[in-house]
Amino acid sequence: MASNNNLNIIVIITMCSYIKSHVMKKFVICFVLGFLCLNVVEDFNNRAEAIQYSAINCRKHSAVLTDFGGKGDGKTSNTAAFKAAIANLSKVASDGGAQLVVPPGKWLTGSFNLTSNFTLYIDKEAVLLASQEESDYPLIDPLPSYGRGRDAEGKRFASLIFGTNLTDVVITGGNGTIDGQGEIWWKKFKSQQLKNTRPYLIEILFSNQVQISHLTLINSPSWHIHPTYSRDVIIENITVLAPIDSPNTDGINPDSCSNTRIRDSYVVSGDDCIAVKSGWDQYGIKFGVPTQHLSIKRFTCISPDSAVIALGSEMSGGIQDVRAEEIYAINSQSGVRIKTAPGRGAYVKDIYVRNLNLNTMKYVFWMTGAYGSHPDPGYDPKALPVIKNINFKDVIGKNVNIVGNLAGIKDDPFTAICISNVTVELASKKSLFEKAKKLPWNCTDIGGVSSHVVPKACDLLPEKQVNCGFPTDTLAIDKIVLKTCSV
Ligand SMILES: *[C@@H]1O[C@H](CO)[C@@H](O)[C@H](O)[C@H]1NC(C)=O
Ligand SMILES: *[C@@H]1O[C@H](CO)[C@@H](O)[C@H](O)[C@H]1NC(C)=O
Ligand SMILES: *[C@@H]1O[C@H](CO)[C@@H](O)[C@H](O)[C@H]1NC(C)=O
Ligand SMILES: *[C@@H]1O[C@H](CO)[C@@H](O)[C@H](O)[C@H]1NC(C)=O
Ligand SMILES: *[C@@H]1O[C@H](CO)[C@@H](O)[C@H](O)[C@H]1NC(C)=O
Ligand SMILES: *[C@@H]1O[C@H](CO)[C@@H](O)[C@H](O)[C@H]1NC(C)=O
Ligand SMILES: *[C@@H]1O[C@H](CO)[C@@H](O)[C@H](O)[C@H]1NC(C)=O
Ligand SMILES: *[C@@H]1O[C@H](CO)[C@@H](O)[C@H](O)[C@H]1NC(C)=O
Repeated sequence: MASNNNLNIIVIITMCSYIKSHVMKKFVICFVLGFLCLNVVEDFNNRAEAIQYSAINCRKHSAVLTDFGGKGDGKTSNTAAFKAAIANLSKVASDGGAQLVVPPGKWLTGSFNLTSNFTLYIDKEAVLLASQEESDYPLIDPLPSYGRGRDAEGKRFASLIFGTNLTDVVITGGNGTIDGQGEIWWKKFKSQQLKNTRPYLIEILFSNQVQISHLTLINSPSWHIHPTYSRDVIIENITVLAPIDSPNTDGINPDSCSNTRIRDSYVVSGDDCIAVKSGWDQYGIKFGVPTQHLSIKRFTCISPDSAVIALGSEMSGGIQDVRAEEIYAINSQSGVRIKTAPGRGAYVKDIYVRNLNLNTMKYVFWMTGAYGSHPDPGYDPKALPVIKNINFKDVIGKNVNIVGNLAGIKDDPFTAICISNVTVELASKKSLFEKAKKLPWNCTDIGGVSSHVVPKACDLLPEKQVNCGFPTDTLAIDKIVLKTCSV
């Protein structure tokens, strides 16, 4: 490695992207306006072409983390480099915005904050290593819609990558990696040593135009991706990997968000692969922001102890208009699960699921009206959730223990449930789930219809020759076409 931070002003008229010098292997990024080129010596092996990526918006300005003193040795902290880089690049937010490239290397860092009109690009050979020191994560207040942290009554450690009140922010890369190094946090959580709630890997609050794509996220201390109080959110081509026994390592949790699309992603985790949320009991009811207009397509999950897609349990701002299709799961506990309880209030309604392909599952359909779990004793047990218009169709299940375990709330039944065209092969006793129950369906306090369901649905879902609904319109977020940007 030769000198970094080597700024040369060169007048060139052509757009330059990568220029590989035989002697020094120089990676040259152009500030096209002003003809300012940054020569950053980096070993981008065998890369002759410009990096291209897809994003909601491209940026006029670029910089590389090493311009700000970053060191990719896996040992040096880059928190200050990220902060300096983003502070610097935030100055051009109103002048076409900027992209910050994390080049190949292992970049240890604590929590840092994003800015608007900004792209964080993590190269394919780059790994962001999350610091394991609590002091590298500032303490922030609990979310207003939760009233307290999920792990502890104190504050929350800010997520590794955090952003609030932003417009147009992209976190992407060439399938580069963000490694939460969560093991130490999981141990502290299990031994109840935490006074504050664990950090997430990525949390974006109060923002619009958010894109998180083309990355591999591993071993978050807790949830991996948490877009909250935001609109126009795109999450695509994401791989999430965490041990199947790691606590609360949910994949993607849209929380009080409007207009979100999740596409072409794959999650293996110790908790729900996707958990759709909107706040907790009295705090969520008061905050009152639903998750709505959410579309999930081509999603694969492995989660032996949790759901492929959970709706709740925190749903006190409401969840409505969720469309999920082309969903694949292997060795997971349940397909699309509704989790709620008296005290949550609000609703889960207008849920549409089709083309669900499940192999080796405890449950295909699971609804739980007695989930419990309250932030504090101040919740109102009379705040009953309304669960209605829940549609499932075109479902294939193999090696399944229980087809449907649908339990509403007494005097507050879950209604207008529609299940059609479902073929489930039950597990033999010798399969993974030894304790196969005798009853493939068990329904209480629910109502609705079924059609062409094998094994035949419970009596509370009588056969009615229907084809359950799925919206025919296209959500606004689904119409957004990404632009091709280059580094
Ligand atoms: C930060 O931005 C300014 C322009 O706003 C620029 O002059 C300066 O060189 C930048 N700092 C670094 C380390 O690149
Ligand atoms: C981001 O860019 C848009 C469009 O150019 C601009 O209107 C907006 O003011 C910029 N945001 C910030 C924070 O500078
Ligand atoms: C990020 O922003 C939040 C909220 O403004 C703040 O509390 C936190 O300290 C910031 N984090 C860093 C690393 O500066
Ligand atoms: C962010 O936006 C929310 C909602 O509009 C507002 O309550 C909060 O004060 C804003 N925070 C900052 C740091 O601007
Ligand atoms: C991204 O990397 C992960 C982990 O190495 C790998 O499993 C996944 O297939 C990769 N995705 C793509 C699209 O290359
Ligand atoms: C995203 O993932 C899908 C499905 O795996 C794949 O077909 C597509 O090429 C990926 N997109 C990019 C830009 O890598
Ligand atoms: C029933 O579901 C299967 C599997 O998803 C699908 O291939 C088939 O076309 C569906 N049948 C009807 C009548 O929709
Ligand atoms: C059926 O579900 C109800 C309510 O959740 C439960 O009390 C009952 O034990 C279940 N029956 C069987 C046979 O599992």
